[in-house]
Amino acid sequence: MDLMKRRSGGRPAGPHALLIGVLALGTTLLGGPAVASPAPTLHELASAQGRYFGSATDNSELSDAAYTAVLGSEFGQITPGNSMKWDTTEPVRGRFDFTKGDVITDFAREHGQSVRGHTLVWHSQLPSWVGALPQAEVEPAMVDHITEEATHYRGEVTAWDVVNEPFNEDGTFRSSPFHDAMGSDYIATALRAAHAADPEAKLYLNDYNIEGLGAKSDAMYALVSELLDEGVPLDGVGMQAHLAVQYGFPYEMRANMQRFADLGLDVAVTELDVRMQLPADTAKLATQSTYYQRVVEACLAVRRCVGVTVWDWTDKYSWVPSTFPGQGAANLYDESLLPKPALAAVRTALGEEDDGGGSGGTTLKALYRNNDSAVRDNQIKPGLQLVNTGGAAVSLQDVTVRYWFTGENGASTYSTWCDWSPLGCSTVTSRVAGSDPAAAGADHFLEVGFRSGSLAPGASTGEIQLRLNKTDWSNFDESDDYSRTGATSYADATKIAVYVDGELAWGVEP
Ligand code: G3I
Repeated sequence: MDLMKRRSGGRPAGPHALLIGVLALGTTLLGGPAVASPAPTLHELASAQGRYFGSATDNSELSDAAYTAVLGSEFGQITPGNSMKWDTTEPVRGRFDFTKGDVITDFAREHGQSVRGHTLVWHSQLPSWVGALPQAEVEPAMVDHITEEATHYRGEVTAWDVVNEPFNEDGTFRSSPFHDAMGSDYIATALRAAHAADPEAKLYLNDYNIEGLGAKSDAMYALVSELLDEGVPLDGVGMQAHLAVQYGFPYEMRANMQRFADLGLDVAVTELDVRMQLPADTAKLATQSTYYQRVVEACLAVRRCVGVTVWDWTDKYSWVPSTFPGQGAANLYDESLLPKPALAAVRTALGEEDDGGGSGGTTLKALYRNNDSAVRDNQIKPGLQLVNTGGAAVSLQDVTVRYWFTGENGASTYSTWCDWSPLGCSTVTSRVAGSDPAAAGADHFLEVGFRSGSLAPGASTGEIQLRLNKTDWSNFDESDDYSRTGATSYADATKIAVYVDGELAWGVEP
């Protein structure tokens, strides 16, 4: 992390900065109020948490001005998607060409970004001459390649994916010209050669499907443990994180990251994207948002997780459709470079403050209907609905709602009931507590919470029918109750408060 270059002060205010700023204020691009200050970039948000936020890119994309405006302003780190791979940098043995990679490092320097070098040794995108070498020639060719490339990029690249994708899905070593010639020793040899060429660069092993606990990540864990025991130079493990909404979220991602961190290694999310079967729809985009959000949250929860890199930021330049026909929409922005719900989810996960008074960029509202026609009887019966008006899914476990009332004389203990909810009353929690300090019409409040569930953008909890009474069943006088109205159909209720993670997201407290 300490090697990652920091932005020095302000960032270029590209068209994207305006777009995000406007979105953050919940207005439209045209005719909205003037934007006071642009919202922080993804990288600024991540930096505030001691992490970087980066993106893959490629040479052909850099002629797209709308694309580079965002790439250069929103991200603090870039990874060349192809231009530092062996087939590009040494297409013929001993003939090195770093032209394309240099374009990427130049872009990064001009925009104050760090660069992850990707990748020195990989079975794919390997020129055919490597596979045709006699076995005894593979090691010297590999060491030469690493030495030339890592030396060339010394000082330009802060971290290298030295070996990419060494494992099969079952955790056995993948066969490759390198493994075939040297067995698994090729990995230590590659790391030592990279360290000799660039002692400052952080050296990583990088793979996919090692984000969660499982056979493949166990194999990586065993490998890196052995390498560390042998004193081989190794700084981190890269988890690619090419996820898909149709598959489950990686099992215990945070715990998996933590076990690598506990070995003294850094962890990086190196190639994050979340694909889906096309066409995209609201539900799939909502699931995608939660996947992105959970990856970022996992990284932030592990001190040694140094940052997150998305495998390009727009669907326009995604690798997915050509590799998985019928799938796509995997990135944070759509093909027109417009933000998708997942972007708001990532910003929320990175701790974005919501200028609109909400919590962490979350926008929820409470609707209320009075289900009790009697102002003076022994029960209070509020009907509530919560609606997610933001662009990111909200985990209901983080949400609480408060309805204020007066207890009058009689028992100071209460019973609360959920009579009906489409979520199932077993997921709804409720309790009464005294207000401290008490305010007019509000010496007590009913607090409602949720044991599980999530609310997709635009979704509603549906009606939650609540009821409360004093344990001595004495009467209330609801006429002065702070949160009560006479509404007989659901309407926005500004005197009912909604909190996300304990922060006020909707309503006015008494
Ligand atoms: O540059 C040629 C172009 O001249 C030609 O006309 C065109 C026709 O197919 O191909 C172009 O090359 C393509 C190259 O990307 C550059 O766009 C290759 O076909 C294509 O196979 C290659 O795909 C790359 C893929 O790695 C190859 O495995 C993706 O862009 C790149 O994003 C992807 O990245 C990998 C990581 O390195 C490792 N982890 C998985 C990740 C996704 O596959």
